[in-house]
Amino acid sequence: MNNKRHIKITEPVIGEEEIEKVVEVLRSKWLVHGPVVEEFEQKFAEYIGVEHAIAVANGTIALQLILEALGIGSGDEVIVPDFTFIATANTVLMRGAKPVFADIELETYTIDVDDVLEKITSKTRAIIAVHLYGHPADMRALREIADDYKLYLIEDAAQAHGAEIDGVKVGSIGDAAAFSLYATKNMTTGEGGIITTNIGWIAERIRLLRNHGQVRKYYHITLGGNYRLTSIQAAIGLVQLSKLDKLNERRNSNAQYLTTRLSKIEGIRPPKVKPGYKHVWHQYVIWIEDTFPYTRDEVRDKLSKYGISTAIHYPLPLHLQPLYRALGYPENICPNSIDASRHVLSLPVHPLLSKEDLDYIVETILLLSKRR
Ligand SMILES: Cc1ncc(COP(=O)(O)O)c(C=O)c1O
Repeated sequence: MNNKRHIKITEPVIGEEEIEKVVEVLRSKWLVHGPVVEEFEQKFAEYIGVEHAIAVANGTIALQLILEALGIGSGDEVIVPDFTFIATANTVLMRGAKPVFADIELETYTIDVDDVLEKITSKTRAIIAVHLYGHPADMRALREIADDYKLYLIEDAAQAHGAEIDGVKVGSIGDAAAFSLYATKNMTTGEGGIITTNIGWIAERIRLLRNHGQVRKYYHITLGGNYRLTSIQAAIGLVQLSKLDKLNERRNSNAQYLTTRLSKIEGIRPPKVKPGYKHVWHQYVIWIEDTFPYTRDEVRDKLSKYGISTAIHYPLPLHLQPLYRALGYPENICPNSIDASRHVLSLPVHPLLSKEDLDYIVETILLLSKRR
């Protein structure tokens, strides 16, 4: 095996088209909110199949603005999965509300619908479903629960641009959805975020909050901030959006290839996709069984020595993060989340991998599995 190889866990796919579009915007001198941002919003809304898309500075702000627009704040509870990037829960805290952690299902690592039901109280105002790794959460069941209990249903689609359930895109199922456009995401603007919704008053309120509550030049009807996306970022976003399906297809064929080969290795559990769901493989996450000759952390170290970068999404369940322990959250409230944090390993799956890269990843894991 060639030890000189270096396979990155992720790499943005930026071509001449993005560069040209950015130069075009720079030449136009319209650098801030302008026609390119509006075009990006329109095209993104069309792609997701919603009425409104509002481009903002990042995915964290996108979630915060949704919560703020919905009037969620002090005294309110919001149910979030315990196993996700911390922004999902922290945006609730930032609004002065309380994140309530629900466990995940181990088949897809997304929020466990039965545990959501357990966690509803008279203070619950909303559920945030995270389409973790690019696999949609069970939005049908969550929609029913949200409707039954009169809760808002928010999608954290930061990792799931283009994912679908029965042909319907995520980002169009909840009351509002937040996408991140960070550099490692399936499509990027460097930093950036975009909110989608079909509900007119939510869109209108978010547009106000994004721009100092301004309705016309220097006339402000509510408290807002500056959470805008620049025209330069929108230019990159427009080109990335036009490539998204192709890039997702590459991720999907890489994932299928890995799964076909890895499923033959004892002690490695490849990721599953529920029937009717379209996974967009933001991450390709395997489960290292306790029977595998090396622990998850040892596998990660060994792969690194062979030049294969991996990642752990995520090494600590949110309720065990020092931030939440200090706020008095008890230990061990979400056993599946704890279990996942100890066993999952994200392998490279990004569109720039070659077949040789994929073979090298599989063969290295196969080699590790043969330790006596
Ligand atoms: C699940 C999830 N939610 C929210 C965010 C926040 O997005 P951003 O980094 O653009 O603020 C991320 C980004 O990593 C994420 O993965």
